Amino acid sequence: MPAYRAALLYFSADHQLVYESDGLLVTRSGEDGVQRVSAVGAWSALAHAHRDEALTHWPGRIIAPGFVDLHIHYPQVDVIASPAEGLLPWLENYTFVQEARFTDPAHAAAAASFFLDELQRHGVTTALTFCSSHPESVDALMTAAQARRLRLIAGKCLMDRNAPDGVRDETERSLLDTEALIGRWHGRDRLGYAITPRFVPSCSDAQLAGAGELARRYSNVWVQSHVAENLDEIAWVRELHPEARSYLEVYEQFGLLRPRSVYAHCIHFDDQDRSLMCASGAAAAVCPTSNLFLGSGMFDHAAAREAGLLHGLASDVGGGTSFSPFRTMMAAYQVGRDSRGKAGLSLSAHELWFSHTAGAARALGLEGVVGNLLPGCEADFVLLNPGATPLLARRGAQAGSIEELLFGLIVLGDERVIERTVIAGRTPA
Ligand code: GUN
Ligand code: ZN
Repeated sequence: MPAYRAALLYFSADHQLVYESDGLLVTRSGEDGVQRVSAVGAWSALAHAHRDEALTHWPGRIIAPGFVDLHIHYPQVDVIASPAEGLLPWLENYTFVQEARFTDPAHAAAAASFFLDELQRHGVTTALTFCSSHPESVDALMTAAQARRLRLIAGKCLMDRNAPDGVRDETERSLLDTEALIGRWHGRDRLGYAITPRFVPSCSDAQLAGAGELARRYSNVWVQSHVAENLDEIAWVRELHPEARSYLEVYEQFGLLRPRSVYAHCIHFDDQDRSLMCASGAAAAVCPTSNLFLGSGMFDHAAAREAGLLHGLASDVGGGTSFSPFRTMMAAYQVGRDSRGKAGLSLSAHELWFSHTAGAARALGLEGVVGNLLPGCEADFVLLNPGATPLLARRGAQAGSIEELLFGLIVLGDERVIERTVIAGRTPA
């Protein structure tokens, strides 16, 4: 059984941060061939019982859970860094243009491979990702993820109106394709499927109703979409659905709010929206670099905390500006500081890190499966070099606690900190 000696960072069952400065992580292969954590704790406590294991020692390094990105678009790797007046012109001028290219399986396969390489380089071991509207784009990504033994969740975008030729799909066909893709990919090895209505303006009532019906029939399948991101988008939804009290309630009408539903942004919410999210078991994917880049607004961390809203962090590449969990955590911190007339929050390193690992896994209904290193968790982890740059090494030497050290990594770290990414117990080439 492979065992790893290094400093360890993870979360207890009640979500407290655990840090072992000299720890041992032992993994064991399950019947399905996936390595899982079988023991974790202090080296001094575990070393004797595990003296026969094949030991790898990484002095000066920290083993931490792989990051979980709760919302990202794999067909948008060539959209990143496209400035626009706001969400709607950004979609029209850049996003739909690039996504139209995914009708070509060779383009989709090349983009999928690049995308998964980027996730790995940045220490992201699980992502909930949009594909384009072309079923081939799902096949390309799932095939590549399966070869890498990744726990990845993805789905074909549903968008049968208000979208140009080349990306717009057809209602009946789109629902048949979704059901076929669920059959082909959901639960295959570590893969999962997400029913993916793009957002209310791009989905007819018939398409939303069909998506809701699939969400009811396949209760273990995920649902992903966007909500309450941008004021122009919200005004448009109000015109399209004057009967709904709020944007979120349109999704509720169509049966699309339930556990394993993940809604990106959730910025322009009121208390009733937050209560509805909580009551339904749906989760918010918080995308701070995207929200700052597109000028969409700022997620209300204080209200989310008060409501007990299930949420986690996400890059939202290509509206988001970086694959790096460090950049996302830093942006979330800065958004939290924004006071908007109230006292701003100072989110702790513990909260930020949790929201991008075990907290995001919890939002997916995958607590105890990924995003943590407790026994039973799949062995997806990163090896952090806390002294990866001269400034990190210098600042880290002054850190008086693990909270201070992690905060330094959040502010000053980037992919150079990720020395190795381990997927299901293996380091990919
Ligand atoms: N709303 C509908 N589609 C998108 C998208 O691709 N990105 C973002 N950020 N918001 C959206
Ligand atoms: Zn998005």
